[in-house]
Amino acid sequence: MCGIVALVGSREASPILLESLKKLEYRGYDSSGLATVSIDANTQKGFISCRKAKGKLQNLLNLIQQDASPGHVGIGHTRWATHGKPEKKNAHPHLDTKGKVAVVQNGIIENHSLLRSQLEAKGIKFRSDTDTEVIPHLISEELYRLNKEGHEIGGLLLQLAVQKVLDVLKGSYALAVIWDEIPNVLIVAKSKAPLLIGFGEGEFLCASDTPAFSGFTKTILPLEDKELALITPLGVEIYDSFGNRKLRAPKLISGYESDADKGKFRHFMLKEIFEQPETAELWLTRYLPNGLPIESPVAFPFENSFYDSIEEIQILACGTSRHASMVGAYLLEQFAGIPAKVFFASEFRYAPPPLAPNVLTIGVTQSGETADTLAALAMEHERRSAYNNKDFASRQLGITNRGESSLSRQISHVIDIGAGLEVGVAATKTFLGQLLTFYGLAIMFASRRNSRSLKEIAELCDLLRCLPKQLVNLISEHNLLTEKLSHKFSSTKDVIFIGRGINYPIALEAALKLKEISYIHAQGYPAGELKHGPIALLDQTVPVISIANEGIVFEKVLSNAQEAKARDACLIGIAPKLPETDIFDHLLPIPRTSEWISPLLSVIPSQLLSYHIAARLGLDVDQPRNLAKSVTVE
Ligand code: F6R
Repeated sequence: MCGIVALVGSREASPILLESLKKLEYRGYDSSGLATVSIDANTQKGFISCRKAKGKLQNLLNLIQQDASPGHVGIGHTRWATHGKPEKKNAHPHLDTKGKVAVVQNGIIENHSLLRSQLEAKGIKFRSDTDTEVIPHLISEELYRLNKEGHEIGGLLLQLAVQKVLDVLKGSYALAVIWDEIPNVLIVAKSKAPLLIGFGEGEFLCASDTPAFSGFTKTILPLEDKELALITPLGVEIYDSFGNRKLRAPKLISGYESDADKGKFRHFMLKEIFEQPETAELWLTRYLPNGLPIESPVAFPFENSFYDSIEEIQILACGTSRHASMVGAYLLEQFAGIPAKVFFASEFRYAPPPLAPNVLTIGVTQSGETADTLAALAMEHERRSAYNNKDFASRQLGITNRGESSLSRQISHVIDIGAGLEVGVAATKTFLGQLLTFYGLAIMFASRRNSRSLKEIAELCDLLRCLPKQLVNLISEHNLLTEKLSHKFSSTKDVIFIGRGINYPIALEAALKLKEISYIHAQGYPAGELKHGPIALLDQTVPVISIANEGIVFEKVLSNAQEAKARDACLIGIAPKLPETDIFDHLLPIPRTSEWISPLLSVIPSQLLSYHIAARLGLDVDQPRNLAKSVTVE
């Protein structure tokens, strides 16, 4: 993760860099820094000023207010620690020994230990524990060597030196480099981490993601892997890794979602939970509009033939997106009758199943930037392409909330869930958007494969169309109920969630949400598994939250909940209000509905309960410790 920015401008660089960093803070917020290059009025020589601060970006803003960083060219970084603790010394930019070369990087340099020991053997003293610091030292060495060989100081020399260093780096990087000898030049490069160049008026801004360009430009050029760009006030030159010039045109992006405002809400997360009726409404208007034939009721942006001849679906995702995918796989198998399997993207990459014919691979990532998911998709594409057999050809579909993301550049078939900007690091409304998209896919596969009658398909469509109204009521009711219930959790250390069938993934998601924002240990289990081990954990200090909806496993989940109650656990139900659900010590009631759509409702009380528990504990709900919204490292 981490966010990087870089500017070659005609104005003071640091305010623009800071403004852009603010919009990338979702990528990491444990420390930040920037470096600018300017010319000393007395000596007429360039020099680099570097400022860093531990903690949120505000600390860097405060620092720069007291101690400005002059210059029109600069680089900046907001960090999510990978190598080295979140401390000032590990914040980027990192400099070479003499402070002449400064670098910011997003990604992981996998061979940094070897490179570091080689540099240390030559007497170089490192100031940080990061993998990144090898880069400025290596560039500095190359600059010296190439200069000695006769290359004159200038952009070409810096380009050659950076390229030499990139050639030895293993892993992923998006980086920006400045050198005090040529104060008007910036070099950026990338491999397996995002980097975009924005074209302003006589200025160029580079950044990890589009929100950073808001207020600057809408004309963007995404750099491709292994490309390097040399940027001066006169323009942008792009080169491949062999130094060949590449001609590429920037494109216009439609807009940004960056101007977030909490409105009347205390946290973005609560606001985003309350936005879910709108998320559903927008999704339904776009993808399940009235008036389409019931044989093909979903308006996804591809041909109907796309669904044909697919015999199996594999879904790759991480975290919350994986939980949405698990509901999706349930729907695809049980409603549409097509075999579907969900994989942790991070595991799939190194242990994929044997190749099967006519498989559709779906990558699900709200950010569109998750390194594990993108890499797993790329690996699958490569191994299928190499097989050179049309039955085994690579067919991929992406589901994301970011139309302008690395996923959209990597895959041609993408469904944008259109949930709008989600600022809270804990995913809520994007989860709902992902779920809805799987309902759409299940409906389309069911109708194309005739695995459900038109009546059943029409019924499911009708249920989905009622969702926005149901959500409005559910959210306002449960906001009050869960706020009250949250008081009971002030000293809770462990919570167990149980669910079955289509709601088992909601138990997993509820547990993830609770642990990531409240730091309370929580675990989700298929309710039937409780007795096979986890029940040993239960006593009166461990609440068990049971997600039980009428349907094929209703009575089973209730029996499993009773088993927990018999061990003195405090029993909380997310279930309809019925005589059978009297067993719960506390009930968070959801409306009686078809089991098919129950996850779309049962997730709401779980989100709100997690939110209120964390908010009551006074925690930073929107930016929980150690997390980031976009996980761009493996
Ligand atoms: C949890 C959460 C994470 C993400 C995961 C994948 O609230 O947001 O678990 O779901 O990091 O992120 P995306 O969906 O961007 O691939």
